[in-house]
Amino acid sequence: MAQLFDFGLVGLGVMGRNFLLNVADHHFSSIGLDTDAQKVADLKKEGNSDDIEGTLDKVEFIKKLARPRKIMLLVPAGGPVDHVIADLLPLLDSGDLIIDGGNSHFEDTNRRFTSLKSKDIHFMGAGVSGGSEGARKGPSIMPGGDRTAYQLIKPVFEAVAAKVNNEPCVDFMGQGSAGNYVKMIHNGIEYALMQLIGESYHIMKRGLQLDNPSLKQTYYDWNQGDLQSFLVEITSQIFDKKDDVVPGDLVDQILDKAKQKGTGKWTSQNAMDLGIAIPTIDAAVSMRQISGMKDIRMTASEKYTEASHLPTSDPSIDEVRDALYFAFIISYAQGMDQLSRASEEYQYGLNLECIAKIWRGGCIIRARFLEDIRLAYQNDPSLDSLLLSPVIVQKINAVIGATRKVVQYTVAKGIPTLALSNALNYFDAFKSAHLPLNLIQAQRDLFGSHTYERQDRPGVFHSDWN
Ligand code: 6PG
Repeated sequence: MAQLFDFGLVGLGVMGRNFLLNVADHHFSSIGLDTDAQKVADLKKEGNSDDIEGTLDKVEFIKKLARPRKIMLLVPAGGPVDHVIADLLPLLDSGDLIIDGGNSHFEDTNRRFTSLKSKDIHFMGAGVSGGSEGARKGPSIMPGGDRTAYQLIKPVFEAVAAKVNNEPCVDFMGQGSAGNYVKMIHNGIEYALMQLIGESYHIMKRGLQLDNPSLKQTYYDWNQGDLQSFLVEITSQIFDKKDDVVPGDLVDQILDKAKQKGTGKWTSQNAMDLGIAIPTIDAAVSMRQISGMKDIRMTASEKYTEASHLPTSDPSIDEVRDALYFAFIISYAQGMDQLSRASEEYQYGLNLECIAKIWRGGCIIRARFLEDIRLAYQNDPSLDSLLLSPVIVQKINAVIGATRKVVQYTVAKGIPTLALSNALNYFDAFKSAHLPLNLIQAQRDLFGSHTYERQDRPGVFHSDWN
């Protein structure tokens, strides 16, 4: 009898191939399926062992999998996922498991979950973070769906995931689309952190006139302290890379237009649906959109040539670091708040301490600070907001003064910091006992009889403003 494989993977792009090789390294025999002969050949070349197989033939793929079959899809989100499922479905047997490991929209996952359940096929949406290197060496994995089906794949996921303190960066997130939802929020936070690092770069490059070697050293130094994180680490590396087309550094040749696949935008859209404020993440999404208007920006820059008018003193590099740290905290806090609200709304039953734990390794937003977040939720699992945890209050108080100075400097200099200044404003609003929204209530009541509440007594009121 021919060998039956433990694990199947559809989509042998770099992510898929690397994930499959990682699975096989951990002694789960694996077979890959793709429609591209070159990709199948690449897999066979790199994974030269009896435990690894690649095929172009879906019937062979299905036949060679041990039952219940465990099949993971790493194909682009949207239509391709539906297409692969429709293709495989007639060949599957009751009790088989399909795992979508891409960045699918959580509502698509809900639809697929319900439809496959009615056909007695298990379906899970599992966020996988860490890029192609993470897939090969250990990603952070966020599976959701039904808990019983998770048991089928748990040994594989725990073996291949990144490890922090010997604990795997994977856990069952919750029912239905919880896995894709948590990954979506991960990406929203990823957008915010990337934008904030970009702004700190802008302050130091255009404002403080640091050259690339100094920037490299600065991010390297920052990565040794509280800001230790994958994104700060790779930022330091970026300044080292020489261009191989023209003399100079590659970073200076890259066009300032950032692309996006949509997960950051979905986070913002969903926050609106949930009535949750995540303005720093929204700002990061907006900045990607503004970055795309390169031609208009260039024209506008010629029309607005004002010099800096406000008197200001330069912040120190340490103060820029503290401001970045502050805004990192705010970004994570916004994401965690959204997870907490979504858990109620969609009944995911999310465990925020566990999410902070599995984000400490493997994923793109891994950072030393996640241990503080984990502690905050361990100390109080029902925290109304991360920003109310004593652990976090202490950290913010230590850097808030520097943040104000840096934002003041950027305002005076005309250096755009949509995300950083927005993080500060969000924080100031968050901690304000009084906001001027009483005026908005008055306006609404005046023009639309929308009513208002009063400070001094309960009830709903309307006034004749004339
Ligand atoms: C990860 C990343 C990854 C994402 C890229 C690109 O966790 O490994 O989030 O899943 O696809 O970062 O995202 P954008 O194209 O939207 O920037």
